[in-house]
Amino acid sequence: MDAVLSLRGLHKTYRLGRHTVPALQGVDLDVFPGEMLALTGPSGSGKSTLLNLAGLIDTPDAGQITFNGQAMTGLHDTARTLLRRDAIGFIFQSFNLVPVMTVADNVDYPLFLAKVPAAQRRERVRQALERVGLQAHAEHLPDALSGGQRQRVAIARALVKWPKLVIADEPTASLDSHTADQVLGLMRELCHAQGAAFLMATHDARAVRRCDRVITLEDGLLVANIHTTEGQTA
Ligand SMILES: Nc1ncnc2c1ncn2[C@@H]1O[C@H](COP(=O)(O)OP(=O)(O)OP(=O)(O)O)[C@@H](O)[C@H]1O
Ligand SMILES: [Mg+2]
Repeated sequence: MDAVLSLRGLHKTYRLGRHTVPALQGVDLDVFPGEMLALTGPSGSGKSTLLNLAGLIDTPDAGQITFNGQAMTGLHDTARTLLRRDAIGFIFQSFNLVPVMTVADNVDYPLFLAKVPAAQRRERVRQALERVGLQAHAEHLPDALSGGQRQRVAIARALVKWPKLVIADEPTASLDSHTADQVLGLMRELCHAQGAAFLMATHDARAVRRCDRVITLEDGLLVANIHTTEGQTA
């Protein structure tokens, strides 16, 4: 099976005035369709930096990114933005929903941007909300929902695109453990059902246990890459 995402020799250094911070120092990684990956490592080890590169939000100083068979090196910013918008879903710790838009409109937004025809959009939004169990809340504003419900809206918004890849940065960090468990179960089910690859940075041991593979960063280097068996049954 072909990798949906291949990273080769990624380097990224931040510059703060006269100081430089080496955040990634040569990372190689292949991510396959339908796979749920946990990205672990101490604070400052480069997890969010790696997610920003994998999610085509930022570009590396050196190294190659291949997404869905296409080399990203030299790709114009506009082309990269379109790929990110249409083929990559994002889930964040703080949900990042638009507070003045209803639940349905939040989920619809990526399809609206991608100029999907209105009738198709309505049907896809309906299906996505049904999958995360929030049909009854379609016309509510995010403020009226609990944290777990908001994260389920964010999951629906990521998956409504039928993405090749979903990037999640600490998606359970704002949730109590019971809600985190439900959200993780849902992500796992949808990841496998839709064949999307999930790359999730997390400090949460329960989240790690739900994944098919665990990779660990330390000081900007991948130091472990372990396939789990628990992930298959959890
Ligand atoms: N925008 C930035 N400007 C300057 N330095 C940065 C920036 N973003 C990250 N860094 C630095 O790069 C290194 C890696 O940071 P990164 O945010 O990727 O770590 P992380 O593993 O996600 O940490 P955490 O678990 O705390 O979220 C750290 O030393 C951090 O201080
Ligand atoms: Mg981080």
